[in-house]
Amino acid sequence: MKIALGADHGGAEQKEALRAYLEGEGRQVLDFGAPANGQSVDYPDYALSVARAVAAGEADCGILICGTGIGMAIAANKVCSVHAATVTDTNAARLSRQHNDANVLCLSGRFISPETNREIVDIFLSTDFEGGRHQRRIDKITAAENRSDPL
Ligand code: RB5
Repeated sequence: MKIALGADHGGAEQKEALRAYLEGEGRQVLDFGAPANGQSVDYPDYALSVARAVAAGEADCGILICGTGIGMAIAANKVCSVHAATVTDTNAARLSRQHNDANVLCLSGRFISPETNREIVDIFLSTDFEGGRHQRRIDKITAAENRSDPL
């Protein structure tokens, strides 16, 4: 499984630690930056790079970290076929996979500890989509994405 990683300055330190953790677990990681050098950057740049890599099939899923995890999700969800979820606890981590088939996990680097984020990541990576009635709901989102008019 290939995992695309990205962060802005609010999540860069946690991203570096997460990358080391995932690589230590034998996972393949594509790191889209930003480096943890204290420089202020724009989260949409990293969200869109990671989301496009997932949509193109270059990565199986993505993990994005900013201050809150909110801006990353807003930006990543602009890319068709990306289901980006902001997750701050382990229940939401499980349900984002089981019910929402989330393929991009968005984490808070400022308000959630590295330990909790690691737990969230472990659950996200090991939980399958349940399908069934949830597939019907996902299909409605996909149909909305495929409409040519903006409404
Ligand atoms: C950057 O200061 C901050 O706005 C960003 O990391 C994120 O929290 C946006 O949603």
